[in-house]
Amino acid sequence: MTRLWHPFADMAVVQDAEVVIARGEGATVWDEQGREYVDARGGLWYCAAGHGRAEIADAAAAQMRTLAAYDTFERLANRPALDLAERVSALAPFPGGAVFFTSGGSEAVDTAAKLARRYWHALGRPDKQVIVHRRHSYHGMNAYGTSLAGIPSNREGFGMLIPDVASVSHDDPAELEALFTERAGTIAAFIGEPVIGAGGILHPPEGYWATVQELCRRHDVLLIADEVITGFGRLGRWFGSERLGIEPDLITCAKSLTSGYLPLGAVIASERIQEPFWTRPGTLFRHGFTYSGHPSACAAGLANLDLMARERLVERVAEMEQILTAAVAPLRSAPLVSEIRSGLGLLAAVELHTDARAADPGIVDRAVHACRDNGVLTRGLAGRALQISPPYVITHAELERVAAGIAAALETVAASAAAA
Ligand SMILES: Cc1ncc(COP(=O)(O)O)c(C=O)c1O
Repeated sequence: MTRLWHPFADMAVVQDAEVVIARGEGATVWDEQGREYVDARGGLWYCAAGHGRAEIADAAAAQMRTLAAYDTFERLANRPALDLAERVSALAPFPGGAVFFTSGGSEAVDTAAKLARRYWHALGRPDKQVIVHRRHSYHGMNAYGTSLAGIPSNREGFGMLIPDVASVSHDDPAELEALFTERAGTIAAFIGEPVIGAGGILHPPEGYWATVQELCRRHDVLLIADEVITGFGRLGRWFGSERLGIEPDLITCAKSLTSGYLPLGAVIASERIQEPFWTRPGTLFRHGFTYSGHPSACAAGLANLDLMARERLVERVAEMEQILTAAVAPLRSAPLVSEIRSGLGLLAAVELHTDARAADPGIVDRAVHACRDNGVLTRGLAGRALQISPPYVITHAELERVAAGIAAALETVAASAAAA
């Protein structure tokens, strides 16, 4: 029996049923038995540059030999943190962004939510404390992210963590407008993923973000774009905000910043947010983590962004978008499938029929296992869909293998469901 407690796992089942991934190269990974899989999930959405990129490993190792770790509290800095902040700021969809590093996406969400509240406090408006999120959203699993969870099961059993939150529809801005009016003067920020990820890869309806943007401006509410999945190229632009015309005040990001080679997240704060803290001595954002600006993680981030620029991987995502859409389109007529969502970047969901899921709540999990048996690593999203978010280096042929593996898996699952 394992001694590793797996995140989000039913340990009563998983303790004797682990899948041990041992090695990776490009969009392929191998388990300890040497079985080969196409990594259709890109790890947990993070593996942008592909597995086995020696230059990222070499950059991190070189930094570790020079200065593995040093914090950036108060006056201290290190060169990789300074350089990566510069680089991320230059890529951000607004000018002059300041970059606050964290260890991952959940910490970035906590940081952005606290910064939004602290911003209003610094401006003499301490009543603005509520953070608004959307149903179906996922904002990580720290206390803030759990309280902002739009997938109800992710909140279950934890009681009240952070009280000043409110939830609205994920696709109807009218509900947001009503809330902004009803709770005028109390709302600090609205947080949203440009495309909802873990909640099922849900695209925004036409015009959704333009309306949200206008409402936030009119009601003096900060807009936080949670780009932990969409940041650094997933939608075919460096940030999803560019692709969808969002002008956020704060951006949270992580994952593809290092392609997962080392843990690293960040909040990018616009000039508006910086203003009280960067111009008024004595006004501090008293917040931060031991590993904020970790030099080895930042060195990995720099090498990753160099590689993505040199190989034009973000442009490649834009080109592969149609190829992915064409590859998964035939799955619409595969057994159990009700909808395919694709067409925004290297991101797609294969949704299983509500009736099939109601009749057999384990069906998505069984589909995931059957995909693995067919050489495709995917994942269940919010108990409704299969995730496709491969490395940006995936080839046309590998995308075809993903689609064929899923189709075959769904045939098997449907046949066993019919026989039961
Ligand atoms: C949109 C979004 N925000 C936040 C997070 C949390 O990031 P992490 O797991 O690195 O803490 C995730 C993770 O998947 C995410 O998808």
